[in-house]
Amino acid sequence: MKLHSRCIRDALKFCGGVHTVAFMVADLTELHDKFHQIFGPGRAGKVHVVRAPGRVNLIGDHTDYNDCFVFPMAIESEVRLICRARTDAAVRLSSTVYPRELVELSLQRKIERADPQWSNYVRGVAAQLIAAGIPLVGMDALIANTLPVGGGLSSSAAVEVATALALLTLAGAEMDTTRLSLLCQKAEHEYAGVPCGIMDQTIVSSAKAGHAMLLDCRDNHKTFVKLNPHELRVVIVNSMVRHELSGGEYAQRRKQCNEGVAVFQRGNSAVRALRDVTMKQLEETKADLSDVVYRRCRHVVGEHHRTAEAAKALAEQRYEHCGELMVKSHQSLRDDYEVSCPELDFLADEAMKTKGIYGARMTGGGFGGSIVALAQPRAVEPLAEHLHKTYTAKFGRQPSVLVTTATAGASILE
Ligand code: GLA
Repeated sequence: MKLHSRCIRDALKFCGGVHTVAFMVADLTELHDKFHQIFGPGRAGKVHVVRAPGRVNLIGDHTDYNDCFVFPMAIESEVRLICRARTDAAVRLSSTVYPRELVELSLQRKIERADPQWSNYVRGVAAQLIAAGIPLVGMDALIANTLPVGGGLSSSAAVEVATALALLTLAGAEMDTTRLSLLCQKAEHEYAGVPCGIMDQTIVSSAKAGHAMLLDCRDNHKTFVKLNPHELRVVIVNSMVRHELSGGEYAQRRKQCNEGVAVFQRGNSAVRALRDVTMKQLEETKADLSDVVYRRCRHVVGEHHRTAEAAKALAEQRYEHCGELMVKSHQSLRDDYEVSCPELDFLADEAMKTKGIYGARMTGGGFGGSIVALAQPRAVEPLAEHLHKTYTAKFGRQPSVLVTTATAGASILE
């Protein structure tokens, strides 16, 4: 299926390089054609298209579930979902990523987790909307996903938010983005089995074009920081090591953070999360914590402050300082939180060897996925060339290098 040609052209114009891959979004005409091929002409009214972007986190990882700061932005690569209401309570689903599978479920029966795995994001969101009392109608839907699955760019949150927007639109209902994000997070916990924080669903639903978002995960307060496109490029390098958060390591990190919180609570009942712990308190309590839990806590407490400081530095165009904090963040995720991998470490280290790169770090949950680099515009092509050469020589596979602007949160296109 050729859903991507026009956008590839546009993006290549923007990136201007041979080593950078274009961001792709599904072309609308081709999406309509494909939808009609799969589901036929249908009888029940207008066809809608919704979009939900992926995200990259500039700094602040594994902090969201500790009530701390994160600093993500939405990216150009996105999920597009084309849908039409049905006259019965069936939901029929197809995905461009898994074109052979046509999934069907009923909104009238209890919605259970089931194969294929990708359908659980849709099942989960439908179940949560029903639980919230929204009178859903059946739909035919095709999901076109140009985000790399397992690339650490939140394709799952994008599918969840796109699904929620589609089902709400067909039901003639609306929901504020905070509630919608929480509902999608719950869907991910219960149907995908990942006890994620709130960062991904929030940025996917509430991003502002041209800006990164400093999100306080304790009270959901958002501060938008403008990114100057003349001075900065955000470069994402996918290691092509597929990251998987349902494998248990992510849940284990959350558990270790909670173990730390329980120890701090013994001394101070006002502590609700690692957000409430200072570096001084952490050092004073070191003897009561196991080495692993101490290091997990040290990452979170340090990362919280680094994130606030980096957002401030970026807002004040102190790019070097922001970059230094990104590098420290990577080291902390690698050594204290232990969620990096040799491929991500290599990419982050090598990226810093290119002139004009302010900072580079792994982004998202880790265990594979991508790094993000903050770059001067003229550094993008040398960076891409350097990483292609060195990474391929070392690991025998090519990274994919993507350049993106910050886009707006999910929306209804048609
Ligand atoms: C995943 C989760 C997020 C967040 C990041 C790490 O992307 O979905 O909630 O915890 O990992 O920062």
